Parts: sequence; structure tokens; C-alpha cells
Amino acid sequence: MQIVKTIEEVRAAVRAWRADGLSVGLVPTMGFLHEGHRSLIERSVADNDRTVVSVFVNPIQFGPSEDLEAYPRDIERDKTVVEGAGGDLIFNPEPSEMYPPHFTTFVDTTETTELLCGARRAGHFRGVCTVVSKLFNIVGPDRAYFGQKDAQQLATVRRFVRDLNFDVEIVACPIVREADGLAKSSRNTYLSTDERKAALILSESLRQGKAAIERGERSAQAVIDVIADSLNKEPLARVDYVEAVDLDNVQRVERIEENTLVAIAVYIGKTRLIDNFIWK
Ligand code: PAJ
Repeated sequence: MQIVKTIEEVRAAVRAWRADGLSVGLVPTMGFLHEGHRSLIERSVADNDRTVVSVFVNPIQFGPSEDLEAYPRDIERDKTVVEGAGGDLIFNPEPSEMYPPHFTTFVDTTETTELLCGARRAGHFRGVCTVVSKLFNIVGPDRAYFGQKDAQQLATVRRFVRDLNFDVEIVACPIVREADGLAKSSRNTYLSTDERKAALILSESLRQGKAAIERGERSAQAVIDVIADSLNKEPLARVDYVEAVDLDNVQRVERIEENTLVAIAVYIGKTRLIDNFIWK
């Protein structure tokens, strides 16, 4: 397992693999790797001859009042996770390597970024799409792996890959959870003991929403109300959004049908957590 910091070194490694006719998978991450990331790396290792994991806390996807400085970093631990999962190369650039002076070109999307996190985190998806485009151009992977945990990000990446004709297959991977149901996230480390307990309300409320659908409820608003009512019972929780949208275009639906994404964002104390499920 190799760890490199420059674009040129990544390109050289990939060129050598390509000369041997090997396929390449890419797992973009911001590091502080957990079991969720590990599942993506393992999937890539299973699908491809070589796997590149990028570890880069991308400054341009953080808003001015967000947690860029506080975002957890531990490259030594990340190395162990990537090695353990069978990854071949970590790309861990400095911000100056990715964003030289006079960096002025961005990838921006509409439609899939209008609602949910896109409506609340101005510029966030522009930052995500720009860095992911750069990573695609730097690595040139056959396949790239994204978690369903960030469902709007996944829909948005799929969209710009199609719209801009990137020659890469996007592979979606299921949400990995803690034993008690909390979706794994690097941001879970921000939670105090009490907040960690309170954070269970996200998966529990989604479970209640899903149960309502299983009982035959098809009104999106009714399902949203079930979930919001449950979230509001937790004193440490403050709901940011509860929405039911089409999985592909991330636009609101009135009825829960196939491919409906039910997504929530909730503050537990100062920590903003997201979770979701897809109806069939
Ligand atoms: P990050 O939050 O580090 O997540 C990297 C990838 O891991 C994303 O595709 C995310 O959906 C996936 N992931 C995170 N938690 C997961 C879980 N519990 N189960 C399954 N997959 C999970 O998402 C980003 O970084 C960045 O926006 C990035 C795409 C790297 C661009 O900077």
C-alpha cells in the first residue's frame, strides 16, 4: 500500500497499472475512515484489480460557519483501514495541490441540489462536484464508489457524470450502521455521551416512517409527519428537514412509490446528522 501526496504520483501509479491492463476503482473520502468507508473500499477491491482511496478534507465544500477546522483527521489510522481492506494507494493531497492560486473553475449542478442539504448548505454540492470531477480526472477510474448514506450526493454525482460524459461507472453502496442503528459517520465523534444516546432517534424515527409505509400509508406528508413527530419527542434533537423525494431527481413527491428517498437531517446539539431510507 502506497501513500502519495501529488497528482503526478497518482497519475504515474495508475499509468503503470494501465500498462499491465489492470482495472482501477476509486473511493473518494474525507478520511477518518470507519466501517462505512471500509465497505466501499472492500467493494472496490472485489470489483477492480487496483483501488485508489482519496483522503482529502475538501475545503470548498464547507460553508464559512461549518466544521472545516474541527473535522477529524487521522491519516495513520486511515492507512491501517485502507491496508486492512485491501486498498492499493491513498491519495492524500494538500489543499494547495488541489487548489492552486487562481483556481476559478467549478462544476455546478441544478435540480438534484435544490432541496435537502443543497437548500441549506450553500455551495456545498458545487464543492463536492468540483472535487469529485478533479479526482475522476486525476485517477481516471473505471468505477467509483459512493455511499447511500449521502443519497443526495450520490444522485448529484450520477447526474454530473451523465451530463458531462465522464467515463466512469458509479457504484452505490448501502448504509453501514452501528449495532444500535446509528448510521456510521466521521461526525459521530463530535457527540457527547448523552448526545450519542439521543442520536438514536434518527434511525428509530426512520424505522417508524418505514413501518407506516409497510402498513399501507402512501401519503408522503403523512409519513413525514410520523417521522417528524418522533424526532420532536427527543429533547436534544432539532429537525433540519424531513423530506420525501424522487431518488433520481431529488424533487418532492406526494405519494410514496418505488424509488422514493425519505431523507432527514437533524441537529443533535451542535452536530448535524443525516440519515435516510429508500422505499423499494
Ligand atoms: P465522506 O463523508 O468521507 O464519505 C466518503 C464516502 O463514504 C461517501 O460516498 C459516503 O456516502 C460514504 N459513507 C459515509 N458514511 C457511510 C456509511 N455509514 N455507510 C456507507 N457509506 C458511507 O462524502 C464525502 O466524504 C465527500 O463529500 C467526498 C465525496 C469525498 C467529496 O469530498
